[in-house]
Order: sequence, then C-alpha cells, then structure tokens
Amino acid sequence: MSADKEKDKMEAQNKIPRHVAIIMDGNGRWAQKHNVSRISGHNAGMLAMKEIIKRADIMGIKYLTVYAFSTENWKRSAEEVGGIFGLLVKYVASELRELDENNVKVSILGDYKSIPRSAVASIEKALDTTKDNDGLFFNIALNYGGRQEITRAARKIAKLAIQGLINPEDVSEDTVSEYLYTGEENGNIPDPDLIIRTSGEERMSNFLLWQCAYSELAFSDSLWPDFTPEEFETIVRSYAGRERRFGGR
Ligand code: FPP
Repeated sequence: MSADKEKDKMEAQNKIPRHVAIIMDGNGRWAQKHNVSRISGHNAGMLAMKEIIKRADIMGIKYLTVYAFSTENWKRSAEEVGGIFGLLVKYVASELRELDENNVKVSILGDYKSIPRSAVASIEKALDTTKDNDGLFFNIALNYGGRQEITRAARKIAKLAIQGLINPEDVSEDTVSEYLYTGEENGNIPDPDLIIRTSGEERMSNFLLWQCAYSELAFSDSLWPDFTPEEFETIVRSYAGRERRFGGR
C-alpha cells in the first residue's frame, strides 16, 4: 500500500463517530433460547450494555444513546414492565459511582416522570450526580417515542406562537430540533451518526425519528445480550469507512 493510501486508511479508522445510538433488541429471544425468564434476559442485556458503555468511552465516542424503554413497551405484562424498571434501579445503585468517577454524564430522553416513582428517584439521583460531568454523554431513551417527541415539540412551539413569543413564519427545522428531548433541555445532543440495531430486525421502531434523517444504519444478527464490545467496535470502525453525503453528491 502506498504511503498516501496508508495515511487515508488510518485517517478513516480514526474517524470515530461522535454519536452512536443503539436499539438493544433481542433480550426476550435470548431468554427463550436459554430457557430463563424474560427479566433474566433483560438482566443479561443490562450487563451487555455496561460493557458497550465502557468500550464506547475508550474509543472516544462522545455521545452514546440506548433505547431502554419505548412508549409502546407499556403493552408488555406488568411483571415485565416492573422488572425492567427494577433493573434500572439496580443499575443506578450499582453503577452510578463508577459512571461518575469516569466523568460520564447521564441524560434521559423521554417522559421519565410518568414511570414508577422509585425509578424516577433513581434517575433523578443519576442526573443530579453526573450533571457537571463532560466525558461520555450517555443518554437513556426511557418511556421514549419518536412521534410522541415530535408531537410534544409541536405543542410547545404552538404555545409559544399563541403567546406571541414566536412568529409561525420563523419556525424552522432548528426550532423543531430545539424542542425535542435532544434539544436545549439536554444540552443540544447532535443527531446520531450511526444507529445500530441488534437481533436481525431492521426497523426504526419509533426511535429518534427526526434525528435519524442522515444517520448510517447498521444491523447485527446477535441478540442484544450476546452483542460484544468487539462486535460493537468492528461495526463502528466500518462506519468510519463509509462516506456520508447528506443528500448532496
Ligand atoms: C428489547 O428486547 C429490550 C428492551 C425492551 C429493554 C432493554 C432493557 C435493557 C437492556 C436492560 C435495562 C436497561 C437499563 C437502562 C438499566 P425484547 O424484549 O424486545 O426482545 P425480543 O424482541 O427478543 O422479545
């Protein structure tokens, strides 16, 4: 390989995406495959998530967003829903100190105030403890739905218009972005460069619908609890070799 080509390749490998978002799918199928309860599957998923956070941080990814609970997930059994929030409480209790020591800043995307009270308290503790950190920005989409998020932004903008604080003619794409969960209230999180979905499914499932406009998409057949940091790193590095055009040439 010529010196120039070698240099280009190294540059491509160094082009780590700023924001990677993940649809962590397949916990239920993993549980079935291993003949354990669905909650054990989510617990295994939580362990996988911990390893991915560490690897993302080591790789220099600045923003990592995970889809932990969608607005549609309420349709699952009360036992499973309660179990997922129980895991969240457990996760915060066991990991918050380490996250904070590693300068990780936790944010929540979604209507987390309407989840069970003990989980809200855990989340508020995590948000408060890590609020001044500026290492990895770790965003948990919780009670999150993309359409709900856009509707909520529209409602906020409509209220401002009624109050005469904004002229409808001045509502731009930037205005909409500002009122999403990824907007001002969470420090303006950039759109994801790469979205990964595991378990062989290839759908957006109401995840970051506005923000995914120009994201690269990657799909893995691994069930989420089997998704390793090595596979994550391979996918992210292969992203670096892709050329994004943003609609241009
Ligand atoms: C999708 O698998 C996964 C979820 C709905 C929950 C994700 C939760 C975690 C990874 C654990 C806890 C997270 C935190 C932030 C503590 P599925 O159940 O839809 O799998 P299936 O499609 O195989 O049934």
